[in-house]
Amino acid sequence: MKYPGVFITGTDTGVGKTVISAALTRTLLNRGMSVGVMKPVETGCARGPKGLLATDSEFLIKAARSKDPKNLITPYTMEAPVAPMEAAEMEGVEINEEYILDCYLQLKHRHDFMVVEGAGGLMVPIHRRMLVSDLIQLLDLPVILVARPNLGTINHSLLSLHYAQDLGIKVLGFVINRRHDEVKEIHVAEEKSPILIETLSGVPFLGTKPYVEDSLLDEEFIEKSASYFAELIKLDSLGL
Ligand SMILES: Nc1ncnc2c1ncn2[C@@H]1O[C@H](COP(=O)(O)OP(=O)(O)O)[C@@H](O)[C@H]1O
Ligand SMILES: [Mg+2]
Repeated sequence: MKYPGVFITGTDTGVGKTVISAALTRTLLNRGMSVGVMKPVETGCARGPKGLLATDSEFLIKAARSKDPKNLITPYTMEAPVAPMEAAEMEGVEINEEYILDCYLQLKHRHDFMVVEGAGGLMVPIHRRMLVSDLIQLLDLPVILVARPNLGTINHSLLSLHYAQDLGIKVLGFVINRRHDEVKEIHVAEEKSPILIETLSGVPFLGTKPYVEDSLLDEEFIEKSASYFAELIKLDSLGL
């Protein structure tokens, strides 16, 4: 295997990092690989009877059919729906990147491949001296960027890709995720922007993931997403 795993980042929050991470995870699992998942810091967790509920993390666990301890998969959970640094300050949590690295290495040791979902985008602060991009470098993982399809995506995508490239982060490619189905006909911007982004950044366009009905149960949603992923996304660059 060329890489020990991949870090899934996005141009923004809500672009589909969790869905793409889950689709990739299940695709690899369906190929017979053992896949470890991680969402190192999750904010916006609802408080339930058993403590904080990390929904992204739970979704990734389902996609991977993971039996790993949840405190390794998501070592930091916080309630406030804000960036990790802010949530940690509000809730008196001290985020330690060495601890995140330790959890990551333990999981990596157990699996063939790791899929790690970031928080927000590349410049989101984890703590005062650490951005998501620093965490990516610490874990020493290549990145896949998830971007939205509609107008505005060229700017957001190029900013993210250039920033990653300037830092020397290996970018395997970018995926366009269709999160809504209200646009039945593909807008002209959506048709042209992937190629433009690819040409201007030199980063491979891996493909567009279609919308999946959100009324489906999690398991069906994950399988359907994975089958689209296997069919439409070029995975060769992962070296698998
Ligand atoms: N391809 C898709 N089809 C249908 N719904 C999607 C798709 N991608 C994302 N969504 C929905 O959009 C919302 C945001 O996606 P999510 O993966 O959680 O984004 P992020 O992890 O980047 O914050 C979620 O409710 C998710 O179920
Ligand atoms: Mg997410």
